[in-house]
Amino acid sequence: MRMVDLIEKKRDGFVLTKEEINFIIENYVNKSIPDYQMSSLLMAIFFRGMTNEESSAFTEAILNSGETIDLSSIDGIKVDKHSTGGVGDKTTLVLGPLVASCGAKVAKLSGRGLGHTGGTLDKLESIEGMSINIEIDDFIKQVNDIGIAVAGQTAKITPADKLLYALRDVTATVPSIPLIASSIMSKKLASGSDVIVLDVKIGEGAFMKTIEDARELSKIMVNIGASFGKKVVAFITDMSQPLGFTVGNRLEVKEAIETLQGNGPADLTELCVEIGSYMVYSGGITKTLEEAKELILEKLNNNEAYDKQMELIKYQGGVIENLDTFINVKEILEVKSTESGYIEKIDALAIGIGAMKLGAGRETKEDPIDPDVGIILKKKVGDKVEKGEILALLYNNKDNIENILDEVLEAFVVTKEKVEKKSIILEIITQ
Ligand code: URA
Repeated sequence: MRMVDLIEKKRDGFVLTKEEINFIIENYVNKSIPDYQMSSLLMAIFFRGMTNEESSAFTEAILNSGETIDLSSIDGIKVDKHSTGGVGDKTTLVLGPLVASCGAKVAKLSGRGLGHTGGTLDKLESIEGMSINIEIDDFIKQVNDIGIAVAGQTAKITPADKLLYALRDVTATVPSIPLIASSIMSKKLASGSDVIVLDVKIGEGAFMKTIEDARELSKIMVNIGASFGKKVVAFITDMSQPLGFTVGNRLEVKEAIETLQGNGPADLTELCVEIGSYMVYSGGITKTLEEAKELILEKLNNNEAYDKQMELIKYQGGVIENLDTFINVKEILEVKSTESGYIEKIDALAIGIGAMKLGAGRETKEDPIDPDVGIILKKKVGDKVEKGEILALLYNNKDNIENILDEVLEAFVVTKEKVEKKSIILEIITQ
């Protein structure tokens, strides 16, 4: 087999076989296929797309490029969740303990944030003493002991995805739906859970910009899951504003804790209750989705979900002595509205970049993170605002941040017409 023939085949719109796809991934990982040929194939895939069978074969080849995690020694059905990347997305910190308190088993491998999207690991590491580098045997023991563990993904999982993602990033081939689907699903399948709930975000700063694209991505991922015998559900959710009120590591941890204390933002709470219900039902804990929702609400209201969150933090060495003194910054700056009206949109990309510039995120993988800084939104879409009212607070440790203040102000779009608050969940795609 010659790579040049396979590039030609895809370029001309033909379908690659499983053997051909295996050949490509194996030889790319062992460096027999150079980056320039792989780049060319990725661009051909970008324009020609892939069939469901090709996407499944591509996913399987990436999955087989590294180790997979065997969770069979954990009793019960293992449930997992993945978001395609959001701003203020602290869902895992709320949802994980919530579904674990209902009896589902959560063995979660998470990643770090890059650019305007934050990563669960960075949020967890902002808690003093919290360990996210857990050996696999300890990880499994922890899930058997308390029903939940959240750890960092090791380099041994899907090495082909790391190489491909880095190449896609510099060859303008990231936004290909089949490539995104196989990248996400290979990692989820390697992590070993039985049930996978996907949160596919739409909006500025999200990979998917339209409902049609989000639907197509969701359907491909659900299909790939089915071809591996996994139960996969995709939630298409709105990111026309950041999730919740906070963006920044400790600010988001605090908000995640408050949410399980029953004082969370409406959108985050709704998302966690709805996704959580699917996880609990698909995990076989209840017979119906309605019962699952009742159970989720019960655990939220009787504080058992909060207790599970505290148990998780403590088990992994984390200490939060006092939530009121958890966040310490040099100054808190106010961003005030220059007009009266209703909030129509809050550009999540701009808020994510603003928080990153304050030091809450990284521009490059090596950048350090300041755990205390970030942004608190004081208004959300649909809220009424008067001229001079506070729109956002910037938790800051840097000097000369006037440009960030301006960018955060510009992220808020104010209109004279009343704006209705909408559900964050736009569609649910099942098998
Ligand atoms: N997230 C991933 O893991 N991979 C992609 O290709 C896009 C988003």
